[in-house]
Amino acid sequence: MNDWSALVAQKQDDLLAQLFAWLRIPSISADPVYNQDTLYAAEWLQGTLLKAGVDRCELWPSKGHPVMFAEKIIDPSLPTLLVYGHYDVQPPDPLDLWTTPAFEPQIRDGKIYARGSCDDKGQTFLHVAAFALLQEKGALPCNLKFLIEGEEEIGSAHLGEVIADYKKQLSCDAIVISDTSMLGTDKPSLTVALRGLAYLEVTVKGFNRDLHSGVYGGAVDNPINALCGMIARLKDENGHITIPGFYDKVVVHDDASRATLNNRPSDDKSYAAEIGAKQVYGEKDFTTIERIGIRPCLDVNGIWGGYTGAGAKTVLPAEAHAKISMRLVPYQDYHQVTQLITDYLHKICPPTMQLTVNPHHGGEPVLTNVNGKAYGAAVTAFKTVWGKEPIPSYEGASIPIAALLRRELSPELVFLGFGLDSDAIHSPNEHFRVDHFTKGLETVIQFYQEFGKK
Ligand code: BES
Ligand code: MN
Ligand code: MN
Repeated sequence: MNDWSALVAQKQDDLLAQLFAWLRIPSISADPVYNQDTLYAAEWLQGTLLKAGVDRCELWPSKGHPVMFAEKIIDPSLPTLLVYGHYDVQPPDPLDLWTTPAFEPQIRDGKIYARGSCDDKGQTFLHVAAFALLQEKGALPCNLKFLIEGEEEIGSAHLGEVIADYKKQLSCDAIVISDTSMLGTDKPSLTVALRGLAYLEVTVKGFNRDLHSGVYGGAVDNPINALCGMIARLKDENGHITIPGFYDKVVVHDDASRATLNNRPSDDKSYAAEIGAKQVYGEKDFTTIERIGIRPCLDVNGIWGGYTGAGAKTVLPAEAHAKISMRLVPYQDYHQVTQLITDYLHKICPPTMQLTVNPHHGGEPVLTNVNGKAYGAAVTAFKTVWGKEPIPSYEGASIPIAALLRRELSPELVFLGFGLDSDAIHSPNEHFRVDHFTKGLETVIQFYQEFGKK
């Protein structure tokens, strides 16, 4: 045990109590009912960082929830690290599936249960705690800036503007984000890629009102049937997306790069079993690792229309709706992909229906620089704390602003994530392992120290 792990162990209870106070604030960015709480979560963080000794800490207004910025400049000649994270969380629904309430954090079986425990308050707090401990010991090895936003879970639509306005104050030598996963608790990894996202809502309208399904049935088309038919045509029997031009910009990995990517422990049976799936599924001729990491995908996230209440009601619905997402890989552009699917949906929409396509948010895919100093510092930190060389990992989810941060602020972007796929983020009973909290904190401290070395 080195001095830092001893200190982390000694401070653990106090740090967890602080994190719990933050987790109790329901900062659900998607729901305006929680706007006051969302603001309060930003203010809580501001107060905590000021108490820990940052030089300044401000809430920058945006067209949505405010952006929290803080900095500690100990020596302008030392390198500066910018920490990005988010204080907003996903809605906790469905509420009745939580064993204990989402905003009443509790430790069970060595895991912290609460909405945001992993995504992303728990992981963002690792940097707050690392700063507080290092500052208390007078041992901060580099300059630190914090950029913690409140709209990640709704697409970070307003953050780009704020970054443009405050670009000078955000100048840094590297960016670190703790908002991703590891391959396993005994399989430390460093995320080197995240997918982008295009999200849209589709409506097909058949009539001016719901109709009696006997009086009219058979004589008119049905919006739900029509929409299902259109959705069914978005992929072929090989799981390949059929939208013309969809794959045009997708990077083709050569055999060597695919072999490297696949050269890590992976087992489809246990992967399926952990989520209660009968078997895995995906694009033909690609492995599960590839389907998540280097291939795009298309999924319906929600579909509705007609009667869904108790019993039976005989009705032809006037309208049908679906929410569709596509995860994108380098170098797909979400504006372009949104246009391609919109055109294709119009092309395949039957003449009986009126179609509307509404794009929601998007996000760019991102790749990190694995040759830079920051990545090297992360590798060393992982080896020190987890005792193994971290595996480079391509993850399937998205952090919409990451590519813009990398382009605008620093090409040195590192994902230092400590979650697990099984942590149930966005789901009921989200949790974060206490040992990942403590080891994550040690890793962050080691990372700062490596990064601060001249
Ligand atoms: N922290 C996640 C992204 C993530 C999760 C990366 C697990 C790697 C492993 C982030 O908060 C998230 O949920 N992103 C959303 C973005 C969307 C709401 C715009 C996503 O990927 O769906
Ligand atoms: Mn997150
Ligand atoms: Mn999330």
